[in-house]
Amino acid sequence: MKRKIALAPSPPAPPPLGGRNGITPSSHTHNNNPNEAERLEAIEMPLLLEAIYQRYGYDFRGYAPASLKRRLRHAAANEGLASFSALQDRLLHDPEAMARFLDCVSVDVTAMFRDPGFHRLFRERIAPELRGLPIVRLWHAGCSTGEEVYSTAIVLREEGLLDRARIYATDLNPAALICAREAIFPIRNMQAHTANYQKAGGAATFSDYYTARGDSIILRDCLRHNIVWAEHNLVTDSSFNEFNVIFCRNVMIYFSRALQERVQRILHESLAMGGCLGLGRSESLQFTPLEDRYEAVSREEKWYRKVRP
Ligand SMILES: C[S@@+](CC[C@H](N)C(=O)[O-])C[C@H]1O[C@@H](n2cnc3c(N)ncnc32)[C@H](O)[C@@H]1O
Repeated sequence: MKRKIALAPSPPAPPPLGGRNGITPSSHTHNNNPNEAERLEAIEMPLLLEAIYQRYGYDFRGYAPASLKRRLRHAAANEGLASFSALQDRLLHDPEAMARFLDCVSVDVTAMFRDPGFHRLFRERIAPELRGLPIVRLWHAGCSTGEEVYSTAIVLREEGLLDRARIYATDLNPAALICAREAIFPIRNMQAHTANYQKAGGAATFSDYYTARGDSIILRDCLRHNIVWAEHNLVTDSSFNEFNVIFCRNVMIYFSRALQERVQRILHESLAMGGCLGLGRSESLQFTPLEDRYEAVSREEKWYRKVRP
């Protein structure tokens, strides 16, 4: 769900461009030779990432380059700019453009009870183990606009655990967090969310969790009380608490191998012994340096338990 950011006036409309993100390498650089355009981008991209890091501290240097390049092209087009160098100049001198850039470059695709089997496993296998704890700490790292966080709140409520739960929900994108905190979502997605909820083992009436308001729904207050929303960058920030459950789904797929390993170390450090880590469908701990510190609760649903420090 892409949002409008209130931080800055809209940038000039982008020129009409072709390609997957509305832009191609040749049109992007005003260079008719695609090889030359690619070569220029290869020079410009590390300079742009370095400039962003030096100026704002956001470190995209270890992200997987192919998908990052596509998103950088999209961000340049969004600003009506034709090259990474022009984008670099804009970002260096205009902090409001940086807010738009962050929102544009972050992939915020998410859904309630996304991959229902994952959430079913949390409900049936992991939640019951949390009953003996006086306080349950959970962390959704890279939570985007919060749909999965509220899914967890619903399961915890139905399992009688929400009152003693503290859910920390973090992301690097402040615009996504504003959306998440508001708990307002498009009504058109509710049919799919309801189907996911039921596949994930939900037996209540899903519409009881929200109130419709025109084209949107707002989630009930009871789901919002125990959630702390905060900016946290998995690349540059460290561990900040010890958790019984960590969800970090569909975030590390955008990172290079070395960066994935760094983030895996932070997640391992942040997890209590016996605590569980849930990853995205195409993520895994197999063949990573920390593989032997975990046992798989379910390889298929990507749930792992920390068994070694
Ligand atoms: C595809 S969404 C995943 C949302 C949710 N976890 C899910 O699986 O549905 C990826 C999120 O990761 C966030 N992200 C990317 N790099 C990050 C970083 N270095 N630190 C924290 N969050 C990051 C993005 O802003 C985006 O909201």
